[in-house]
Amino acid sequence: MERWMRLGTYHTVTGQHAGAWRVSTQATDSESLAQHVAAARAAQDAGLDFLLVTDVLGEQADPQRPHEVRADLVPRLEPTALLAALAATTRDIGLVGSFSTTFEDPYHLARRLASLDHLSEGRAGWNVVTSFQALASAAAGGEPLPPHADRYARAREALEVACALWDAWERDAVVRDRRAGRYVDPARVRRVEHAGPSFDVRTVLPSSRSPQGRPVLFQAGASEAGRALAADHADVVFTSQDHLPDARKFYREVKHRVADAGRDPDGVLVMPGVVAIVASTRAQAREVRARLDEAIDDERARRRLSALLGWDTSALPADALLDAAPAQTEGHRSRARQLHERAVRERLTVRELARVAEATRGHLLVVGSPQDVADELLAWFEADAADGFVVGPAVMPAGLRRFTRDVVPLLRAAGVRPDRPHGGTLRDRLGVGAPTGAARETTALNR
Ligand SMILES: Cc1cc2nc3c(=O)[nH]c(=O)nc-3n(C[C@H](O)[C@H](O)[C@H](O)COP(=O)(O)O)c2cc1C
Repeated sequence: MERWMRLGTYHTVTGQHAGAWRVSTQATDSESLAQHVAAARAAQDAGLDFLLVTDVLGEQADPQRPHEVRADLVPRLEPTALLAALAATTRDIGLVGSFSTTFEDPYHLARRLASLDHLSEGRAGWNVVTSFQALASAAAGGEPLPPHADRYARAREALEVACALWDAWERDAVVRDRRAGRYVDPARVRRVEHAGPSFDVRTVLPSSRSPQGRPVLFQAGASEAGRALAADHADVVFTSQDHLPDARKFYREVKHRVADAGRDPDGVLVMPGVVAIVASTRAQAREVRARLDEAIDDERARRRLSALLGWDTSALPADALLDAAPAQTEGHRSRARQLHERAVRERLTVRELARVAEATRGHLLVVGSPQDVADELLAWFEADAADGFVVGPAVMPAGLRRFTRDVVPLLRAAGVRPDRPHGGTLRDRLGVGAPTGAARETTALNR
């Protein structure tokens, strides 16, 4: 199989759709180990390549009530703790987490991810995010969210430092020489000496080289700065795309940039998120969607939309069409632009757009029979708009069961999914090869 469709799952136990936990017939407890393990194992048993645990620090500010606890708060587990638990309870699925370079430092991130790669025997991945919630700053000492350009400059430096820390351990540095009393051969470990605008790191990582050398690096962010960072460093570009022609353009552009950066375009994957609602028939799937949408609180959805867009829509009537161009937000720039474009393209009212955002968080929404969903994914894959997908079932746990039981076999039958994975580590499974990316900077740092 020359080119195959990679598949990951957007890991939750409550479902992607904001109304899902109210509609699901099964109890969904976002902090239950048993439920997380059951979801991870279902994804593993279906042969999916990885599960992705996203995370945000703080809460999205409600522009009108910034000091109140939001009524739609759902608790979340911290990703490293959750992924470590899943490392121990699964054997054969990649474990990817979102970690922010804006509010964490590269030493601690590199250390946690190296540990996760050891514990999972080479299944770790890092979704490098720069954060967008204004209130994330409150969680990190009250500083305001740094401007977009500063966050990306810091992300680039953080990645360079993390890679330098990982690469500083040679593969055979652990010798456990009983006679000489040396667990590690110090000649095979370098100290990292880095002094840059954001970080001053002079140390040795206390984790030896992990099975993958570096975890698989995902990058999520589609602005100009986000794409440039991905071209230089990412193994996987995790993106939200909801329109095939735009997605093809994005795909082509990413691959060109990767080539311009001197890297192999086939070794850097473009994977859009997809929210899937699968039922036996298309009509039933639409009914499920209608039921889910009914569980959305329109007022709250409006406020969340304003926060996401970075501009206040409360003065507009709910059935007003959104056509004025939004001001450029310092927050989630690409998502805000994309949602606005969707509203204009599909002539959505403010209320409708708020509902779409609650259902999809900006991702492609696929609603239909197993064949409908498989056909849509195949169409994107074959049109060179995606190398694979991060699938978020709208409702859990039933949605994941539907997808893995009914859709994955159709993809296999279409000849785009391998019967067996291409190896044990996440890098092997995805076919992204040995770490490249930041190698140039790493050498410079260690000299
Ligand atoms: C598909 C996707 C997933 C993301 N997941 C997270 C996440 O889990 N946590 C987070 O803080 N930010 C997340 N982000 C936000 C990005 O890290 C970034 O801050 C944001 O996209 C703004 O950058 P941009 O303008 O380059 O898109 C995600 C972005 C995208 C496109």
